[in-house]
Amino acid sequence: VTDSRIVEAFSELAPNYEKVMDWELRFMWGLGYRQFVEMLVQAVSVAEDDVILDIATGTAVIPNMLALNACAQGHIVGLDITASMLRQGAHDIRQTRTTSPISLVCASAMDIPFCGSAFDVSICGLGMHHLDVPQALSEIGRTLKVNGRLVIGAVGVPPFWRTWWGARIVARTIRFVYRLTHSGPRADAEVEAIDNLHTEQEWREILSDSLLDPIQVTVIPPRLFWGPNALIITAQRAPAPSAH
Ligand SMILES: C[S@@+](CC[C@H](N)C(=O)[O-])C[C@H]1O[C@@H](n2cnc3c(N)ncnc32)[C@H](O)[C@@H]1O
Repeated sequence: VTDSRIVEAFSELAPNYEKVMDWELRFMWGLGYRQFVEMLVQAVSVAEDDVILDIATGTAVIPNMLALNACAQGHIVGLDITASMLRQGAHDIRQTRTTSPISLVCASAMDIPFCGSAFDVSICGLGMHHLDVPQALSEIGRTLKVNGRLVIGAVGVPPFWRTWWGARIVARTIRFVYRLTHSGPRADAEVEAIDNLHTEQEWREILSDSLLDPIQVTVIPPRLFWGPNALIITAQRAPAPSAH
């Protein structure tokens, strides 16, 4: 799926994004959207003056919640490729407060427009499956300070998906149902993202390969045993290996 198809999908979704996510998350995990975001925000410790990057921020629900909970003196950058999602977020931020520690930046997570070691904390909620995961993690690793914290709220898959039945039947059925129930661009974006979904164990390996030490992975089980689960993954930026 090209970036422009992703932008088309999320531009279409932007006005109803929260409502749609709330329905989908309750269906998949029996958990409301706001409840999931709260779990994500609470999974990472944030100091008052931390500088935070929220990747694939969408309508900026995560920055808004962080600003309410902590970071009175710090700064939060919400980055997303879809301008309509950011516009919706900017509108919501204006409704919540008059002054805000949040900046919204329209850019790709594949090429984060900030210098190295700029952030104390990075967050990515429900966005990783739309990205090239190794490239996104490389950019996150570059822009995080050493010992900086990362939390990812990912759509994951149970180990069953790696079995013969899981690979052939479940993933194909989900692809088919998505095409039946969703519009063209959104169906394309979600169907393509299925190959980016990983198990808890795969995430641990992927993070270790990217100079990010996995700390904890919390699994929220799916409502239907074969469906996608939710993973809340915390990690820390490891120091670069020495030349010797
Ligand atoms: C499911 S939404 C998640 C939004 C938000 N993080 C949340 O928790 O509600 C996925 C977001 O990823 C964004 N996205 C997809 N590809 C991207 C990329 N290459 N760079 C930045 N954002 C991207 C989309 O525009 C969309 O807003």
